Amino acid sequence: MRILLLNGPNLNLLGRRAPEVYGSATLDGVVEQCHAHSTRLGHRLETLQSNHEGELIEAIHAARQTADGIVFNPGAFSHTSYALHDAIEAADVPTVEIHISNVREREPWRRISVTEPACVHQIFGRGVSGYLDAISHLHYRRAHPPLTLSYGPHPDQVADLRLPEAPGPHPVAVLVHGGGWTDPYTRDLMDGAAVDLTGRGTATWNIEYRRVPPVGGWRDSMADVSAAVGALSPISHDHRLDLDRVTVIGHSAGAQLGFFAARTASVRPVGFVSLAGMLDLGSIGSGFDHLISAFLGDDRRAHLAEVDPIKALPGGFSTVAVHGRRDGSVPPDQSRRFVEASLAAGDPSHLVELEGVDHMDVISPLAAGWESVAQACLAGSE
Ligand code: DQA
Repeated sequence: MRILLLNGPNLNLLGRRAPEVYGSATLDGVVEQCHAHSTRLGHRLETLQSNHEGELIEAIHAARQTADGIVFNPGAFSHTSYALHDAIEAADVPTVEIHISNVREREPWRRISVTEPACVHQIFGRGVSGYLDAISHLHYRRAHPPLTLSYGPHPDQVADLRLPEAPGPHPVAVLVHGGGWTDPYTRDLMDGAAVDLTGRGTATWNIEYRRVPPVGGWRDSMADVSAAVGALSPISHDHRLDLDRVTVIGHSAGAQLGFFAARTASVRPVGFVSLAGMLDLGSIGSGFDHLISAFLGDDRRAHLAEVDPIKALPGGFSTVAVHGRRDGSVPPDQSRRFVEASLAAGDPSHLVELEGVDHMDVISPLAAGWESVAQACLAGSE
């Protein structure tokens, strides 16, 4: 696949320009990381930075012949340039828009992107790693294009369905992404897991849900994930889904949501798999205070018990908790304590600890340890 990496105005100043907002990496450094990531995925990358709208438009037109995907940081043009919107639309090359900073939490005018509607996806607020996630997203949507279906009226109430080649009926893996319930992190994080697991013969249902801020909050996020699992029912006949073999798989904060969805959804899963899950919020440590407070809002104390998986045991289904020993984000102790408590409460549960594996490795088919993760994800539905 040929990927065009386009950077718009002022991005040549990366590293020097407002490092507190955009970080210290230079544009050359970013381009180097993108080259390495593209090569790893087997793709060729071409790059251009320009401060001129017309030059960017012409590069997008040329991409019709020369690229299969575009990763585009339009800079401030994204807030104003209908001409760039039209160029992306006319070129019809799948384009992922990326912003390094969290444009939704800055000046109100940055919240609007006029270019986004022409793009297949937008990534923002993840720092420079957003560029790599954008390349991954292009890679996985080409490897196995999803069917995106809505399960509610809100734009975040959608999920990607991928079906195996076999005639079915298919077991189903519901994937719930993490990201601390916050706005910048979306289901593209689970693209790799979705494509890999589908290739192993299970249908995947990679769900989006409302997050915080500005919408969402614990009630909305939890209701959405539960509704998304229930939404398998009306589509099961057409897509030959076997609703007796549904597993809910959640990563990080998505494991918190997945656990409750497994308990409350109208479709009852046979198993729950936590990948580096946040499963014992009461003892997760003060480093998570800001995330938990944003998720629970003002009534944190009153509601912590209602959203804490370890306090809601037994689940009534089998549980596998997978955790990398090198996880520097969510402590492996979360999984250890949860499995101990769920066994004590009578759920068939087990722990899979993986040496040399970190927080994001457990959702990456490219990482060491993935084979064990994939086996754990599929074990319940076989
Ligand atoms: C930016 C965000 C834009 O609002 C800003 O004008 C930029 C950079 C980002 O990457 O965060 O130039 O696109």
